[in-house]
Amino acid sequence: MNKKIAVIGAGNVGASCAMYLAEANFADVVMLDIIDGVPQGKALDLTQAGPVRGYNCMVTGTTKYKDIKGADIVIMTAGFPRKPGMSREDLIAKNAEIVGIAAKNIKKFAPKAFVIVVSNPLDLMTYHMQKVTGFPKNRVVGQAGVLDSIRMRAFIAMELGVAMSDTNAMVLGGHGDTMVPLPRYTTVAGVPITELMPKDRIKAISERTKGGGGEIVKLLKTGSAYYAPAAAAVDMCKAIFNDEKKVLPASAFLSGQYGIKDIYIGVPVVLGAKGVEKILELKLTKSELKALQGSAATYKKLIKVVK
Ligand code: LAC
Repeated sequence: MNKKIAVIGAGNVGASCAMYLAEANFADVVMLDIIDGVPQGKALDLTQAGPVRGYNCMVTGTTKYKDIKGADIVIMTAGFPRKPGMSREDLIAKNAEIVGIAAKNIKKFAPKAFVIVVSNPLDLMTYHMQKVTGFPKNRVVGQAGVLDSIRMRAFIAMELGVAMSDTNAMVLGGHGDTMVPLPRYTTVAGVPITELMPKDRIKAISERTKGGGGEIVKLLKTGSAYYAPAAAAVDMCKAIFNDEKKVLPASAFLSGQYGIKDIYIGVPVVLGAKGVEKILELKLTKSELKALQGSAATYKKLIKVVK
């Protein structure tokens, strides 16, 4: 039997996830949305691209949660996106309801699944997903660190004129204004960018990374980014599927690491067949640690909304 990945939400992020997953050709994909016709239509469209894009996996669409039955991985994308002038946190109440409904159904129909959360505000929705499903914490993870770090990588590659694939970036903290880019742990072919760029350019790139999602919201005007968020989620999917033990920043449940507990927040993790297999505790400077703890404190204050 083929492995199965369920994508909840057939909007821009969900459909882009389904496309990248189909192209990766390692599992059947089922896309679910509440708007009848949309997931079915997009799935059929993707299926028809298969002959020239070279994939054979099945891509189907549905409005019924029973069709995600037995999914190995669920990518949660459903929810309202930001509009210009909104923060991700403005979405909390509306999206908590949507994530809550999905979580109950994931628990019922795909009780063994790993869940990758993309819905915003990311760290809080990941927390909510874990609470409602009751899944072990290693099986529920939030996507944002990968997205924030690939944004930073792209900016570095553009600035230095080097291959995107030679860059590596570490962005911790919440997926919001308080995120913490770590230039000391951000490299080009292993060389820290602190050796390659003047301080003011590093600062500018870090700031652009923090506002990376907002920059796209401002341009699009009607919603938020979807190609990079979907690519990041699919990268995490592959890491779990292929037991890659990939080290990447992701929103994980902390139980004392970095002096933070009982919250999901972006930290470096090892992602493999058991999901979040390890949380790496980097040596941080006082100000880096303060920024990470400050970011966690911001979300701690908001957690009561999803409790
Ligand atoms: C972003 C949204 C999806 O950062 O959170 O683009």
